[in-house]
Amino acid sequence: MRSEKLKLREIDCVPFDDQRSGTAGLRKKVTVFQQQHYLECFVQSVFDTLKLEPGSTLVLGGDGRYYNREAVQTISAMAAANGIGRMVVGQGGLLSTPAASNLIRTRNAAGGIILSASHNPGGPDGDFGIKFNTATGGQAPEQLTEAAFASSLVCKSYKLADLTTLDIDKCGETVIGNTVIEIVDPVSDYAELMEEIFDFELLRSTLKHRVRLHFDALNAVTGPYAQRIFCDMLGVPDECICNATPLEDFGGIHPDPNPVQAAHLVKLAMSENAPDLIGASDGDGDRYMILGSSMLVSPGDSLAIMLANTVVAPGYRNGVPGVARSMPTSRAVDAVAHDLGIPCFETPTGWRFFCNLLEAGKIGLCGEESFGTSSAHTREKDGLWAVLYWLSMMAGLEQSVGEIVRRHWARFGRCFFQRRDYVIADLEKAEAIIRNLTDNIGSVAGSAGAGQQISEANIFEYTDPVDGSVSTNQGIRLFSADGGRIVLRLSGTGTSGATLRVYLDRTERGPGIAEKPAAAALSDLAGTAAEIARIEHFTGLTEPTAII
Ligand code: G1P
Ligand code: ZN
Repeated sequence: MRSEKLKLREIDCVPFDDQRSGTAGLRKKVTVFQQQHYLECFVQSVFDTLKLEPGSTLVLGGDGRYYNREAVQTISAMAAANGIGRMVVGQGGLLSTPAASNLIRTRNAAGGIILSASHNPGGPDGDFGIKFNTATGGQAPEQLTEAAFASSLVCKSYKLADLTTLDIDKCGETVIGNTVIEIVDPVSDYAELMEEIFDFELLRSTLKHRVRLHFDALNAVTGPYAQRIFCDMLGVPDECICNATPLEDFGGIHPDPNPVQAAHLVKLAMSENAPDLIGASDGDGDRYMILGSSMLVSPGDSLAIMLANTVVAPGYRNGVPGVARSMPTSRAVDAVAHDLGIPCFETPTGWRFFCNLLEAGKIGLCGEESFGTSSAHTREKDGLWAVLYWLSMMAGLEQSVGEIVRRHWARFGRCFFQRRDYVIADLEKAEAIIRNLTDNIGSVAGSAGAGQQISEANIFEYTDPVDGSVSTNQGIRLFSADGGRIVLRLSGTGTSGATLRVYLDRTERGPGIAEKPAAAALSDLAGTAAEIARIEHFTGLTEPTAII
């Protein structure tokens, strides 16, 4: 064990005015974070806000993207200077977001700092991000992130320990003054948790005899997790895990597992002799995508199907007390919750809104349309967990991905869903669309566009059932007379310009729904949304930049 005396330095800086956290922490271009004192000022504001008891433990790690390693060194040195008792740091500076959340809980830590810009591109010209989680393992609630922002606006100095570079690649402890910096295997606690929730013996035999798995880690953080869990513990051959080495620029791959960015996986699923189960996870391991032979599972369907089949995994066999989805997520899960007679909560976009519900035991499963789903096993969404859950359904029901999905639609109807993203360079123009709808919301109900009559229109507001906090302006909702829904909101995770997200959903029943393309089922709603929001008028855009 290396031990050093604490050489404390207090460094002066000029406060920054742009350190307000968005949907999931502070995300900026790497070059912004590389400005002198920038990262330090944010971290000092977090320490000042959390006001941790002396001797507290903090977890630290990230998705391995460019600047991750430097940030780990800096934050460790600041933790020592700020009197943190123990830093639990993932080896190589790596920790997937769900593994970090789990480690906070297993180590009784006071919180954690996660370095990630999630699914945003990495590398020197890409994005970097930082978020902090509380002792529950969940992302800091808005009151805390806002307090940290207020603190950053007046941060005129920060504390740093003068120390030689830490060896973050070797497990072990280094003592600096009263602070222990412990480098730990990032995978083992998480792998143990998965083994508790799922029936690994059943999965092992299913993978041996029936299901050919293909997992793509997109050169991001889940590679080491997938290798340990799928190959070492479940006996899958190494070649079934692709892009398994975390790279600082993700090898040029866009680390977002959705049908647009990961089109190669859709192609694989549609090919002859496609693997039975294709899974992928994003930069920091919290998002996921599930495909089977000739079938891409939409995230809203995935959540609904998981809820309908809790019997397949030991951790869920007794059902769940309730379920939650973010407001724009398709309403597929509502039908299952109704059938089971359990509550279905509708929360604003962003994982942190699920955390109180999970912590209070009100829900056992939750998910978002943006390829994020999880359960009460952790306080973050969890990509690998979702793949294991699907594998458990295939094992327990003895059905293929396609059969599971089609049987679900036959029973509950199919909730068609699309998210249409308009990338708008000029933030002002994007804001004008929302402002115009907000100002005129009273007259939107009763209006029509592209053949669709709007029967109700409102602005989504959420009162947290646990702490009573109110979040206003969380998206505009338009309901069509025939049961369709349009949601509009601006993205809160971008680092430049704006993205207008238009979400559409509508449930249909009866023959033909399995073959019908979502585009056909939703084209009239898409036209109505564009017309009523006057997207072309405000932005000149006639088509979305991406349809997901
Ligand atoms: C997006 C997703 C949202 C997710 C967040 C973080 O936020 O829409 O569901 O929680 O990324 O992964 P947005 O850019 O829409 O604010
Ligand atoms: Zn992510």
